[in-house]
Amino acid sequence: MKPYVFVTRKMPEHLLSDLYEIAEVGMWEHEDIPVPSEVLQKELERADALFSLVSDPLRSQQLAKCPKLKVIANMAVGYDNIDVEHATNKGIVVCHTPDVLTDTTADLTFALLLATARKIPEATDYIKNDQWQQWSPYLLAGTDVHHKTIGIVGMGRIGEAVAKRAKGFDMEILYHNRSRKMETEQQLGAKYCSFEELLQQSDYVVCLAPFTPVTKELFDQQAFQQMKNSAIFINASRGGLVNEAALQEALEKGVIQAAGLDVFAEEPVRANHPLVQLPNVVAIPHIGSATVETRDAMVKMTVENIKKVLEGKPPLAAVNFKELGV
Ligand code: DGY
Repeated sequence: MKPYVFVTRKMPEHLLSDLYEIAEVGMWEHEDIPVPSEVLQKELERADALFSLVSDPLRSQQLAKCPKLKVIANMAVGYDNIDVEHATNKGIVVCHTPDVLTDTTADLTFALLLATARKIPEATDYIKNDQWQQWSPYLLAGTDVHHKTIGIVGMGRIGEAVAKRAKGFDMEILYHNRSRKMETEQQLGAKYCSFEELLQQSDYVVCLAPFTPVTKELFDQQAFQQMKNSAIFINASRGGLVNEAALQEALEKGVIQAAGLDVFAEEPVRANHPLVQLPNVVAIPHIGSATVETRDAMVKMTVENIKKVLEGKPPLAAVNFKELGV
């Protein structure tokens, strides 16, 4: 009997062909609606493999009844939606999609930084709303990016790719990370510093660290107070790294200048979210890796991860490979 794979969102059929060859495939047939928890629960009771998304919570509650599940393949580099420890205890391999989205996410992070600094969304609205009456010297005047200091919190693959882009803008690059990256320091001239030093010295503070119990609300009131009043905060990682009430206060009181946010603590956010409403916030809906090329590559990698595990081979990228010896 073929194994059963459940895909939690409608995916392009042609990218799943490798799965159809080796498995029976069930799929939630909606592109824009997440799979309801009761449907997921039922599917997990019979699935050998799960193709999941960041919007699918897979905690101990959801994983309570999944007797045959061998692999959860998350179509994302982040996997904070999954209780990895619980999955590991059950012998379930947890896979993700690093590398294929690195440059795309770095492009978006830098685009968000530029858009926030140069007020691009405001300028677009200005002309669309027919407000442009005449040219004036300080009309929509923003802040320079070139030759400024960028502070990258979380110098993983995406952090390094953002640093490369920053080098092209002749920026001074500071970073804070769990470990030092000597190669990045040599190649890009990035300087390692403490979190506090980075906050105090950076013109652009860019959050790219993963969301873990340790990084939860790393950017709190104290962190924003240490930043320059002219600082621009960019978050392209996870909303959970930020205390949103503290960020709101910092933006309202001029403790920092502006923020560009691709992620929020609870997603999706509505238009009336207090941060989205602020004039000095550029908000976008978690689209860091959203290009057709990269999303296709992420689907393919997720399929490949599932296939490998079901065939008893090491997957391309598993987060608990050491613990499970895969
Ligand atoms: C990721 O890969 O973790 C993104 O946030 C979702 O694509």
